[in-house]
Amino acid sequence: MNIAIVGTGYVGLVTGVGLAEIGHNVTCIDVVETKIMKLKLGISPIYEPGIESLILKNMAEGRLDFTTSFAEGAKHADVIYLAVGTPTGSNGEIEMKYFNQAAVEMASVISRPTIIVIKSTVPVGTNEALQHLMDEQAAFEVSVVSNPEFLREGMAIHDLFHGDRIVIGTTDKKAMNIMMDVNQPFRIPIVPTTPKSAELIKYASNAFLATKISFINEIANLCELVGADVQEVSLGMGLDKRIGAKFLQAGIGYGGSCFPKDTLGLLQIAHEYGMTFPLLEEVIQANAEQQRVLVSKLLGRMEIIRGRKIAILGIAFKPNTDDVREAPSLKIIEELVSHGAKVYAYDPVVKAASLDLPSDVVVANSIQEALTGADAALIVTEWSEIRAIQAEDFKKWMKQAYVFDGRNCLDPDAMLSLNVYYEAIGRGGEMKELAVK
Ligand code: UGA
Repeated sequence: MNIAIVGTGYVGLVTGVGLAEIGHNVTCIDVVETKIMKLKLGISPIYEPGIESLILKNMAEGRLDFTTSFAEGAKHADVIYLAVGTPTGSNGEIEMKYFNQAAVEMASVISRPTIIVIKSTVPVGTNEALQHLMDEQAAFEVSVVSNPEFLREGMAIHDLFHGDRIVIGTTDKKAMNIMMDVNQPFRIPIVPTTPKSAELIKYASNAFLATKISFINEIANLCELVGADVQEVSLGMGLDKRIGAKFLQAGIGYGGSCFPKDTLGLLQIAHEYGMTFPLLEEVIQANAEQQRVLVSKLLGRMEIIRGRKIAILGIAFKPNTDDVREAPSLKIIEELVSHGAKVYAYDPVVKAASLDLPSDVVVANSIQEALTGADAALIVTEWSEIRAIQAEDFKKWMKQAYVFDGRNCLDPDAMLSLNVYYEAIGRGGEMKELAVK
């Protein structure tokens, strides 16, 4: 099948590469010329483990190409995927500007009967609206299909080939059959449904996962009060198959380009239909508070951090990505700076040039540089390099070994045995405070 993909961000690029890998001929379209130039050389504009080798392989085998021209991309396409960003707008609304621009542009160049697939996360009713637009503006018959994505950044290639389900929303039987054929080689269960249900499945899935995270974070806070250990509580809960072990990792709240945006988006959809959604409001509020927990712990221990060197370990919103959108690190850094701390932040992948940080924040080149002479270290992202820091390293490099682990990724016993002051999230119980020399 000939396929065009509009948008070469996480969703568009990974989807395009995946469809090429299973045998389709794919042309990826993007309006940003530099991105396309780099992609033609096999350089990915996103940090995603494994993607560049797949780009090169599929280009070499003649199934993957890139262009800035909508007309060229659409010329031979049987199916066109729209995968442009739908970020949160300045008033918390779902920003449809880029999506609408791409849709209008596409309508003007369609030169044969086509299926248009909406991959972007869009409000309920967008498929219907796009169908009307195409009926009015496209010169050939168009069938609009919803096909939301469920790819985690950093794990996107894995998720594409090993996902739990592929959701296809359309009432057009012919289009459904074609979409089944397109996706069949993935060998992933397909959920055929209506466009509106497909649109809602996406928001409801992300909001539910966000709810799970906020729930376990609240339990973590309770664990600290009652003297329990959230790691053990999560384990004990997660073994119940009805609950499931995934997304029960307590921490400093969810970030990224999806959960914060999509929880707000779902709330907006509910409000538009005259419904309140207090549960979701609480999930969002709990997350905002959880992002402040680590600094509260630090202030609880040190009171005055003005002029002190504080190391932030991890800037990306989670490991294996360079994405800092809605990353808890940014809020933490902002708060520390407002208290007058000297912040040294380190991330294995995120570099200073891609950040808009206050000028006195130092982006360190190594863990050692961030920790040397520091008064406290805050573990913000659980990269494997950060998980591997030893208690001796904290002792050796820091002025005083105060460690606040926002991802519960270090070994408390190892820390305590070397007299490193160690606080994590939701880990009361047997963990004792030891005096710091
Ligand atoms: C999320 C969903 O997992 C994907 O299924 C979805 O397709 C994607 O959004 C999207 O809508 O495009 P992503 O945002 O890349 O993927 O990352 P996740 O792995 O889901 O993590 C999101 C946040 O939750 C991170 O900040 C992570 O640290 C946090 N998290 C995750 C926890 O705090 N605890 C957990 O147990 C799991």
